[in-house]
Amino acid sequence: MGAWNRARVKTLQRAAHAVLDIQLVADDGQPLPEAQAGSHIDVRLPNGLIRQYSIHEYSFEAASYSIGVGLSEPSRGGSAFIHERLEVGDVLEIGAPRNNFPIEPGARSYLFIAGGIGITPILSMIRWCAANSKPWALLYCVRSRARAAYIEYLPGGGKLVLHADDEQAGRPDLQTFLRQACADDQVYCCGPALLMDAVGNVAQGYLPSAQVHFELFSAPESSAQQDGPNKSFIVELAQSGFELTVPADSSLLDVLEAAGILVPYSCREGLCRTCECEVLEGEVDHRDYVLSDAERASNKVMLQCVSRAKSEKLVLDL
Ligand code: FES
Repeated sequence: MGAWNRARVKTLQRAAHAVLDIQLVADDGQPLPEAQAGSHIDVRLPNGLIRQYSIHEYSFEAASYSIGVGLSEPSRGGSAFIHERLEVGDVLEIGAPRNNFPIEPGARSYLFIAGGIGITPILSMIRWCAANSKPWALLYCVRSRARAAYIEYLPGGGKLVLHADDEQAGRPDLQTFLRQACADDQVYCCGPALLMDAVGNVAQGYLPSAQVHFELFSAPESSAQQDGPNKSFIVELAQSGFELTVPADSSLLDVLEAAGILVPYSCREGLCRTCECEVLEGEVDHRDYVLSDAERASNKVMLQCVSRAKSEKLVLDL
């Protein structure tokens, strides 16, 4: 993880039921690094928790990032802190923007599916479409219309289909929405695992996987990433020369923590990359949901919270 910078809460307002919109500016008044569509920042809260939030708007003029924070039910402490305790003027620590969900710029048009607070990265992409004169369509799925944040922020040039569970019976019509996609289009989806699973199932068969992109908020119930039962493995930490055994029933992150080696982490589900480390030797059994196929194939990085080893031993740059 890179350096932390201090950012001040400039504005804080309700964007919808259980959604707060927060505008952050650098505490020293300097410009913030540019954030591309789909980027997120790590936010270290005063209670010590690190959370990732998508930047729905990067403003060069205001030198600000705007993020939206949904109140998780139940909250593991991050969103509850923000909703109950954060105030205008408070200073938080933030990392530089990172992008695990970049937009492919060469498409003819763009289809977006957002579930709940999954609207935040999608909104940044829709802003990109508007700035680049690209047609877009959004299927926005929410539990109720009162929870539909940022609808009024959507720029022109596109089409919104809102599915509010309290107004429409049945599930969102994913088939009709996805069947609009042509070979030159790209599809981006962000939301809860159940919705993302449904999108994946519907898209499978008639849209190539390279055309459909996901950002997950939580790991799916059934892990497709796991191939057979866990095995124990040995990990060597190149910087200290320590060797540790990771038993079959523990994660690498757990073993490092138990040995007093503190590594940054956030989700512990293979979703955020906070625990990423460099692999020097050995073959990784990748179990995350965020590395690209090329990164997996390179065998140069791994996420310590979920990934394991195919080889007997891994040597890590730790
Ligand atoms: S802590 Fe989030 S990917 Fe490991």
